[in-house]
Amino acid sequence: MSGSTTWDAERYMRFGAQRTRPAAELAARIGVSAPRSIVDLGCGPGNSTAVLRARWPEARIVGVDSSEEMIAKARADDPKGEWVQGDVTTFEDDAPYDVVFSNAVLHWLPDHASLVVRLFTLVAGGGALAFQIPCGRDAPFREHIREVASDPRWRDRTRSALTAITIEDPSLYYDALAADAFSVDIWTTEYEQIMENSDAIVDWITSTSLRPFLEVLDADERADFTAELRARMAASYPTRTDGRVLFPFRRLFVVATRRASIT
Ligand SMILES: C[S@@+](CC[C@H](N)C(=O)[O-])C[C@H]1O[C@@H](n2cnc3c(N)ncnc32)[C@H](O)[C@@H]1O
Repeated sequence: MSGSTTWDAERYMRFGAQRTRPAAELAARIGVSAPRSIVDLGCGPGNSTAVLRARWPEARIVGVDSSEEMIAKARADDPKGEWVQGDVTTFEDDAPYDVVFSNAVLHWLPDHASLVVRLFTLVAGGGALAFQIPCGRDAPFREHIREVASDPRWRDRTRSALTAITIEDPSLYYDALAADAFSVDIWTTEYEQIMENSDAIVDWITSTSLRPFLEVLDADERADFTAELRARMAASYPTRTDGRVLFPFRRLFVVATRRASIT
């Protein structure tokens, strides 16, 4: 999904606690002791930026996002914060940052090998690049989206949406970052998210993975696409004894610490 896509801040934050938890777990693993400058790339409505502010209250923290709506929400919630509408792929600043942070953003961008190398150049010596992206290419919900998207009614229009999200193997990030890193910490976590029912999973993905597909359809088609997806989801995410469903969601975390520069 391009940075120019309109994001729905309110809908995105309906599952705010689950979406923000990985940001906190990523921030907790950054070993930079007292960063003076931090940039949160793809800050969204400011939820991940607030995590950084709580951990490092003294630091200068800049939130960057390409979405006007997201930046407006972030600014409304924290008028004293430093918010910039800008694109991650071209973002630059005069001085490097001690922490370059990005939670749940980079999967919307292509060419990860060159992207993460470029983002690492924004990091000061001894600082860290930290990012989290969804992985789990073969998760049932992704397979069901692909199945529904292959319907002849819309498969020509949804074809480009099939590649809107980038999911790479962890080794790609190691290979891209290791040469200039003092350390590279990579791990995955699968969250067993508890949802009210399988329809709630469709609600969750409507503001993220499903958006590129729904955006190319008209209102009636969107309703049909979503109904077909809901029917498939119920079989793959069965109801538990209390009526809820488990929604396993796998995420990849990377913290690369840059070698201190030798003067
Ligand atoms: C899933 S939200 C993540 C928000 C927040 N970081 C969090 O932890 O929940 C993805 C955000 O990335 C932003 N985004 C997507 N592509 C971008 C780009 N090329 N440049 C800047 N922001 C981008 C979107 O506008 C959206 O706010």
